[in-house]
Amino acid sequence: MCGIVAAVTQRNIINCLLQSIKRLEYRGYDSSGLALINKNNNFIRFRSVGKVNELIKKIKNKKLFGTIGLAHTRWATHGKVSEENTHPHISSHIAIVHNGIIENSLQLRSFLEKKGYIFYSETDTEVIVHLLHWEQKKTGKPLLEVISNILIKLHGNYSMVIMDSNNSSKLIAVCSGSPLIIGLGVEENFIASDQIALLNITKRFIYLKEGDIAIIKSEKIKIFDKNNLIIQRKIVKSNIKYECINKGKYKHYMEKEIYEQPISIRNTLKNRLKNNTTIYFPELGLKEKNIFLHLEHIQIVACGTSYHAAMVSKHWFESIANIPCDVEVASEFSYRKLAVRKKSFFITLSQSGETADTLRALRISKKLGYLGNLTICNMQGSSLVQESDTCLLTKAGIEIGVASTKSFTTQLTVLLMLVAKIVGIKKKENNIEKQIVKILTILPYRIEEILKKNKEIKNLAKKIYNKKNMLFLGRGDQYPIAMEGALKLKEISYIHAEAYPSGELKHGPLALIDKNVPIIITAPKNSLLEKTKQNIQEICARGGLIYIFSDEEINLEKNITVLKLPYVEEIIAPIFYIIPLQLLAYYIALIKGTNIDQPRNLAKSVTVE
Ligand code: AGP
Repeated sequence: MCGIVAAVTQRNIINCLLQSIKRLEYRGYDSSGLALINKNNNFIRFRSVGKVNELIKKIKNKKLFGTIGLAHTRWATHGKVSEENTHPHISSHIAIVHNGIIENSLQLRSFLEKKGYIFYSETDTEVIVHLLHWEQKKTGKPLLEVISNILIKLHGNYSMVIMDSNNSSKLIAVCSGSPLIIGLGVEENFIASDQIALLNITKRFIYLKEGDIAIIKSEKIKIFDKNNLIIQRKIVKSNIKYECINKGKYKHYMEKEIYEQPISIRNTLKNRLKNNTTIYFPELGLKEKNIFLHLEHIQIVACGTSYHAAMVSKHWFESIANIPCDVEVASEFSYRKLAVRKKSFFITLSQSGETADTLRALRISKKLGYLGNLTICNMQGSSLVQESDTCLLTKAGIEIGVASTKSFTTQLTVLLMLVAKIVGIKKKENNIEKQIVKILTILPYRIEEILKKNKEIKNLAKKIYNKKNMLFLGRGDQYPIAMEGALKLKEISYIHAEAYPSGELKHGPLALIDKNVPIIITAPKNSLLEKTKQNIQEICARGGLIYIFSDEEINLEKNITVLKLPYVEEIIAPIFYIIPLQLLAYYIALIKGTNIDQPRNLAKSVTVE
């Protein structure tokens, strides 16, 4: 969590820092701050609680000048949301912005307090900056050497940028646990948590690797790897268009991203469906194909929305490919004794590729004897992509709304392709693969069709937006869709929502049913529909307020509303039925006037455990 931007240039850098840090608000938006070195080699620092706009307002009419500076947007971990806890933190001539958590900060803090340091914040970051100051004072060594020396004393994650007012020509960046990317300009260089922050300035980036320390000057860059050896890292040219990070005609990024789903899915499928018969992943080589041929089990680990996509794919892996598949939330997988199945293959799913829980699970999996690992990810160059054996990109395009939408449907698209590919490899016959290719070709059109239902869904939102609780039900591969629908609603509307398999209600949750609890059911026409109808009767009999999304006529009773959806092929029904639930959550939040793109307490990229 938290966003970092820093710059060392020849021009006044203040507006550039503010605009860039604003684009990182998705990483946290509790408070933000900025520090510059002025002409007299003193720090000037401004900090504000709330969004970056508050900081902008604070600085607006001040005549400030600085060619080197740091900025930070915070997602609070150590210490409450307050101005004092906002970065940058300063100790005499050293200023720092930090992303991560120092696990032994309390011990270090008490050591430094004994040395006479006064702490103005509750943060672990202030510990780092005082420790740097103390070590430099004690040893008299150059800052770079001091930084290398203190790192062994820090336990946890500490991607950070350090600025020294005694030397206003350079910044020092340390990459550990969270991403840092150098943006290369002309006689100016930048560092940020994500290229999005710098896309209007440069397209040329260097991704720092775990353990790297970089000295960034306006005219040159020097990088040391984790063994303290000078290293040349590859310069990557970004193909992300700056315009992609605008809302365009939409009111919110989430709305834009919901409507982008047909195109995102098309991009995900592009160049991957060969001759209308086979799935082609250029990313997979002979090694992977050999693994797919021999694997007997698949273990998928993910969080949040990505976990729900994984749950859908379990149904596909088992029913289409006949491969046992287990799915687990990453934070659970990492902290229990695991019994690994024979010939098991490990898959992670993630939009950001930076989710700390998922990354940790991947690192643990490498010691457990899986046949290999693969990540399905939306962010090229992210930590998960770099650390995994193989990666299949989802190609959803940049997703800025905190609530995931297009990344979910593109993850499902890749997962279905992967299932078909494995079937093709294992069974050496491509009938199933062929059928899936055909259905996937239709998928973007099906999504376009369902998006046209927006008015009906908006009307439903008007009827139920003021309810305090809601239930989401689904059977089979629709149960994860119910979970994802409930998560979307909770995240952006703050309405309490729970998801259950339809058949599970009678085992307890039926007690919740009354006319104030809307029950949203996705019930596509399939072999489970008759069972679901039976469950609907049970709810009806108890006066529940039922809303059903279905492509089937369901006998109307007084308290049932059916939203008739267009026909969809059974296999892709999960990808299709999440769309009305995304729209429903969006319209409810819109009526309620919540902060849809940046819901309270959340951040897009969860880089803490
Ligand atoms: C979804 O709407 C969430 N904001 C969240 O659950 C997210 O899916 C989760 O944090 C995992 O993120 P990832 O896909 O980037 O790993």
